[in-house]
Amino acid sequence: ESSEELFARAAVVTVMGHVDHGKTRLLDSIRSAKVTEGEAGGITQHIGAYQVHVEHEGVERGLTFIDTPGHEAFTAMRARGAKVTDIAVLVVAADDGVMPQTIEALNHAKAANVPVVVAVNKMDKEGASPDKVRGQLAEYGLVPEEYGGDTMFVNVSALKHLHIDELLEAVLLTADAALELTANPNKAARGVAIEANLDKGRGAVATVLVQSGTLRVGDNMVAGTAHGRVRAMFDEHGETVKEAVPSRPVQVLGLSSVPRAGDTFLSTSDDRTARQIAEKREAVERNAQLAKRRKRISLEDFD
Ligand code: GTP
Ligand code: NA
Ligand code: MG
Repeated sequence: ESSEELFARAAVVTVMGHVDHGKTRLLDSIRSAKVTEGEAGGITQHIGAYQVHVEHEGVERGLTFIDTPGHEAFTAMRARGAKVTDIAVLVVAADDGVMPQTIEALNHAKAANVPVVVAVNKMDKEGASPDKVRGQLAEYGLVPEEYGGDTMFVNVSALKHLHIDELLEAVLLTADAALELTANPNKAARGVAIEANLDKGRGAVATVLVQSGTLRVGDNMVAGTAHGRVRAMFDEHGETVKEAVPSRPVQVLGLSSVPRAGDTFLSTSDDRTARQIAEKREAVERNAQLAKRRKRISLEDFD
């Protein structure tokens, strides 16, 4: 294959943290701060991922947020071998401090070798103790910049929309320091399914993240063991789009069945190839299940 020409792409960000520390609220706050004026009542159709644009050092930059419970996204996707996220935002409520799932989330990020930005949330609450959070996380190796480490901490309030821009700035600075954010859009698309469901009227609806290449309406594709021809694509505003470049999340219609979160997808030159890959993947899965069952039976023999 010819040498690849690489182009800049948006960073992909996952928000993680302990239950009720404000992940969803933070994602809403980021989205509402960046939603375009024209959108009716600021109502955004739910989609498992969205992209915002941020001005950073005079340049407009894209940031893609994956809007699913961070743990599920990480575990399900990593279990299937998919690397989805470039950066993790670890949300810690300033009144609650570091909790068990904070550490779990941190360990996921470490295992995936993903840089972390800490959002110290709920700063509007009485009893907020951001320095305590910094001290606690420093013990787990996330040493704040202001303590001489290399992790950026930003105090925010998702509820009151405080310092959201600073958080986005920290994400971009961390991305630029740690990552090479490029991909080749000029080839067949590859990526990951973020979430999917069966819609009564529209059939299988899958939110996919394109990681390389460009996905276009009319392309044949296989996602996990589902296959089909892309009938239509929609962005996070429910607007139809004709193509999706690397780091762009889109809703795709046209798959034969519902892929799982974390399933990888690729576009193919024709429908026969897509079907064959899907069938091959099905066979591989069936064999793996059979092997698992055989192993269980042989272990039971020793009981
Ligand atoms: P799970 O998805 O259940 O793990 O929770 P989550 O981390 O997504 O938390 P969520 O955004 O649902 O917020 C939990 C509660 O905290 C909600 O009642 C929010 O309104 C509240 N909350 C979130 N951010 C803030 C904040 O900055 N300040 C205050 N005072 N409350 C907040
Ligand atoms: Na919650
Ligand atoms: Mg939530």
